[in-house]
Amino acid sequence: MNSLSFLVKKSNGEKISMVTCYDYWSACLLADSDVDCLLVGDSAAMVMHGHASTLPISIEQMAWHVSAVSRGAAKKFIVGDLPFLSYRKDLTENMKAVEALVKAGAHAVKLEGAAGNLELVNYIVESGVPVIGHLGLTPQSVNMLGGYKVQGRDQQAADKLRTQSLLLEKAGVTALVLECVPSVLAREVSESLKIPTIGIGAGPDTDGQVLVLHDLLGMNKDFRPKFVRQFLSGQHLVVEALNNFHQAVVSGDFPSLKESFE
Ligand code: KIV
Repeated sequence: MNSLSFLVKKSNGEKISMVTCYDYWSACLLADSDVDCLLVGDSAAMVMHGHASTLPISIEQMAWHVSAVSRGAAKKFIVGDLPFLSYRKDLTENMKAVEALVKAGAHAVKLEGAAGNLELVNYIVESGVPVIGHLGLTPQSVNMLGGYKVQGRDQQAADKLRTQSLLLEKAGVTALVLECVPSVLAREVSESLKIPTIGIGAGPDTDGQVLVLHDLLGMNKDFRPKFVRQFLSGQHLVVEALNNFHQAVVSGDFPSLKESFE
């Protein structure tokens, strides 16, 4: 997959799969999978560092995650999230943030929202860096949105999202993430754009789907939003393996002679 494959896949009617990835060992697993592209999301702040929102993560930390992922999955198309406020400064600072992610190994950057970002999107694209847009529930604006809620439910909000998606396409984005929007709206937006949409909590009719790795692996049994399907009972399996290790240690069964040096 490369930046041109997004359009090709859409025109061929092929769905795009994207999964978040934040570190080397899971990047190695994803490198062996058929998943099309990896998102080093700023959700790393929550998933990897235990914060309550994505806001605390810095550009340096994002670049650190991107570089680990690029060492583990060198052949995958890697999208790096520009973190909160890192692209809302002057052009020089904004481009420094872009540069940090690209030099760390990202093939594209993602940023949230359209208002106030269109010129920058165009500038980044003209600098040779593909940009992925993100509309609907934009977690960096959680304090404006009053929480993590489905967006675009009323007519006015839906119209705004339609308009913003067209403006982002015109500004040059390669693809558009649609997070937590009603399925009908996501379908309409997807049909109105030439670029692919990649949904999360946006129903079945977007051109691709993205999920957080740990959610799809069932790594957190207490986090089960409606839009997540757990493809593995990860938490159960991992805790069982850890308990087996513990039991083997306390019983003296591990290590065996075969697992020891003479
Ligand atoms: O940071 C992230 O994981 C994301 C996805 C939810 C799309 O932006």
